[in-house]
Amino acid sequence: MSAAISVRGLRKRYGDVEAVRGIDFEVARGEVFGLLGPNGAGKTTTVEILEGYRERSGGEVAVLGHDPAGRARELRERVGIVLQSTGMYRHITVREALDHWAGFYSRAREVTEVIALAGLEEKAGERVNRLSGGQLRRLDFALALIGDPELIFLDEPTTGFDPVARRQAWDTIRSLRALGKTVLLTTHYLDEAQELADRVAIIKDGRLLAEGAPGELGAGGDERYRVSYRNGDGSLVVEETDDPTTLLHQLTAAALARGERLYELSVTRPSLEDVYLELTADVTPTPPAGVAHD
Ligand SMILES: Nc1ncnc2c1ncn2[C@@H]1O[C@H](COP(=O)(O)OP(=O)(O)OP(=O)(O)O)[C@@H](O)[C@H]1O
Ligand SMILES: [Mg+2]
Repeated sequence: MSAAISVRGLRKRYGDVEAVRGIDFEVARGEVFGLLGPNGAGKTTTVEILEGYRERSGGEVAVLGHDPAGRARELRERVGIVLQSTGMYRHITVREALDHWAGFYSRAREVTEVIALAGLEEKAGERVNRLSGGQLRRLDFALALIGDPELIFLDEPTTGFDPVARRQAWDTIRSLRALGKTVLLTTHYLDEAQELADRVAIIKDGRLLAEGAPGELGAGGDERYRVSYRNGDGSLVVEETDDPTTLLHQLTAAALARGERLYELSVTRPSLEDVYLELTADVTPTPPAGVAHD
């Protein structure tokens, strides 16, 4: 079966700004794929091109076998979207907004069921312009699910959610995955990506820096372990190794021989956050030789 999303050499230029500079990735059907990267990296641009909301400057993209630039009705029926910011409905109630949106789909889900899924039962009769930021975001989420789509785009779906609402949204995304739906998600919460995504891509300045399962990302995919402990004087020692068995043996043997203990001894793998911070760190440019500073 073909991929749900396929992106080859994607480019997007806004005037002088080259927001996306040749990105390639594929999202398999039934996969939750996370797009990560700093502000301005090109995530929303990429997602909105895939949604058919923006034109690309170059490259090939296919979404459920269609070119989204064609904005085919058949494709729109099969895709659900949470934009990074919305404001379509203001003066109608939550239920009315969902009823209205459901009318665009031939196989819409039950409005009441979607209201419950988004945790908006108590606000169903409230006017949209009276919702809090997090409640408004839940409505966006509900609007994305109403058409029972097979592919869902979620651009920062949980920004502004309180911790309980975030966990509920995670459960909803997991249940979408369990139903075999494909999800493309952008997020700045690395724990969210680690929890939900089968694979992630990290982009910065319009380029893809790394791609893989959240637990396996890292320099070259090597097995890296971090061994840390405190010396008797309290100082923290951190060592990296691809062979923690040998390193631990050496460290503990030496400590025992000295009659000392290694306090707070731990072996960890770099987390997604460690890898992300390493990859996206701004390298301070070294000034070229001979250039005077003042
Ligand atoms: N309509 C536009 N016109 C001109 N430049 C734009 C436009 N939309 C985005 N950009 C620029 O393109 C770059 C990528 O923006 P984009 O919104 O895709 O980033 P992002 O990764 O989604 O960031 P964030 O994490 O802040 O949402 C930025 O430099 C932004 O200023
Ligand atoms: Mg964005």
